[in-house]
Amino acid sequence: MSVTNLLRPNPAEAPAKPAAVAGPVARHVAIIMDGNGRWAAARRLPRVAGHREGARAVRRAIEAAMQSGVGWLTLYAFSSENWRRPAGEILDLTALLRQYLRSELAELKANGIRLRVIGDLQRFDEDIRGDLRAAERETAENHRLNLTIALSYGARDEIVAAARAVAEAAVAGSLDPAGLDERLFARYLATAGMPDPDLVIRTSGEQRLSNFLLWQAAYAELVFLDVLWPDFGPEHFAHALGEYARRERRFGARPA
Ligand code: IPE
Ligand code: IPE
Ligand code: MG
Repeated sequence: MSVTNLLRPNPAEAPAKPAAVAGPVARHVAIIMDGNGRWAAARRLPRVAGHREGARAVRRAIEAAMQSGVGWLTLYAFSSENWRRPAGEILDLTALLRQYLRSELAELKANGIRLRVIGDLQRFDEDIRGDLRAAERETAENHRLNLTIALSYGARDEIVAAARAVAEAAVAGSLDPAGLDERLFARYLATAGMPDPDLVIRTSGEQRLSNFLLWQAAYAELVFLDVLWPDFGPEHFAHALGEYARRERRFGARPA
């Protein structure tokens, strides 16, 4: 697929309005926000310009989720593998994160949005960790939208950490291995207490999960969009929700 295709999503595939979805609305939508670098490259701009524009698309995605009645929105912002990128790009991304938190916190609060963060935050500087903790604390009473940002997140890391915690509990005698089942194991994951995603969207035309929510997305519907993340808007969100509404979820049972 060519970049020009990506830059111009087919209007026939992307209805203009966000709210007009017939059928069930996904309760939890998770998005792999991909394509910032290609967006910048297509304009001969530095990658950071794509990331900056990507932060604007985050705002549009949050608004679209709220308008569509989606209760849970999880955004993959930085993977455990993204630490392999050049130091300069990581610096740009952390600067944008710091800026985003400082400029958006009031907005999140005003809109009744609860922010959570999942991932290995130890790898970030202390000031960002402090900002993230403060944002979680200050929005903890909000219920309108549950927004989770996956930062320095890797599903395999998360599952290994959960297995380690389970093993430690067993050794300490507070958990009987015979009583361990899927529900109990899920309580050791970073997403404990959250519903599983119903719909996982990935932008940029790539069709892979890149270590995102491997446990939780076991039965999620997957929608891959040919739009680069900085161009993502309410019409793409609506298109993905429409696609979801048309799918028949069987969970292994026979078709209805
Ligand atoms: C997504 O855009 C943002 C992050 C992974 C941090 P990319 O930076 O991966 O952009 P592409 O995939 O190179 O176009
Ligand atoms: C996945 O995108 C991670 C995020 C969107 C944060 P990448 O661009 O890092 O994924 P790969 O390397 O193409 O699989
Ligand atoms: Mg990418």
